[in-house]
Amino acid sequence: MSKVDCNAYITRRIPQQGIDVLTDAGARVEVSPHDRVLAHEELLAAVRGRDAVLCLLTDPIDAEVIGAADRCRIFANYAVGYNNIDVAAATARGIAVTNTPGVLTDATADLAWALLFAVARRIVEGDRFTRAGEFHGWAPMLFLGGDISGRTLGIVGAGRIGTAVAFRARGFRMRVLYHDPSQNEALEQAVGAERVGLDTLLRESDFVSLHVSLNESTHHLIGPRELALMKPTAYLINTSRGPVVDEVALVGALRQGQIAGAGLDVYEDEPQLKPGLAELPNVVIPPHLGSATVGTRTKMATLAATNVVAMMRGETPPNIVNPEVLQ
Ligand code: GLV
Ligand code: GLV
Repeated sequence: MSKVDCNAYITRRIPQQGIDVLTDAGARVEVSPHDRVLAHEELLAAVRGRDAVLCLLTDPIDAEVIGAADRCRIFANYAVGYNNIDVAAATARGIAVTNTPGVLTDATADLAWALLFAVARRIVEGDRFTRAGEFHGWAPMLFLGGDISGRTLGIVGAGRIGTAVAFRARGFRMRVLYHDPSQNEALEQAVGAERVGLDTLLRESDFVSLHVSLNESTHHLIGPRELALMKPTAYLINTSRGPVVDEVALVGALRQGQIAGAGLDVYEDEPQLKPGLAELPNVVIPPHLGSATVGTRTKMATLAATNVVAMMRGETPPNIVNPEVLQ
């Protein structure tokens, strides 16, 4: 294949396989030398003169950054969620935006289950207890948690990841409810899932797992009213985006025992946590690890790079989210 003429910038070190896809295609690649999120000013300077920018969910690609990207033809996000990019501003400038769907579905679904198990069976609390030398023998009332098998799982957002989470529920003979604007026939047939309104799902589920993308209509989708609808024995799992949940309201609900616990991989003001969250015993709070496996991050890197190369070759990037820029 002919070499592409491309001056690409990557905002932070990613797996080498992704960089290789770019250099093998003939692109000149510069990777940020800092292993941290670039400051706004640094980002403005870094995107200038680049044909392509491979960016991360921690990079706010706002109208100003897009304005500074004077030669840029593509922002290839290294994530499935692209709420960090002002897509309308990119589209107005004719710049393509791409994401990395599909390759992280299983890893994220697995992590949602890891959170569900960890919080319901009190694994983190129990682990801390053992390490502290407090385990003095089996006891009838030690760390009793919630039942999982045979209970009801509520999936909010039955896209790729929500569906993958629901499919895993078969192994635990769970009843599955889902809330989504569209019917998901595959899910209904495979696990007997039932499509219900959000309030019904919140009232009836023992586990509520969030899998919507973040946008205006899903911001604070779970707030005080929704938490109050949940059972006091229910758990909330969030592997989507932090602002889908009103985190202050969640801290209050957990404190008051309005719900039993929460497993969160994402936070409203990531990486900041709302006051009190980290002090609660009934939360499990990993640092946004949904896609964090060696295999998945490698695939995300190669997919993001493949989108850049396709754009440079004048082809349609496989994961373009604003295809109207190509017309
Ligand atoms: C991770 O959160 C992603 O959107 O890929
Ligand atoms: C994202 O990949 C989703 O559709 O859930």
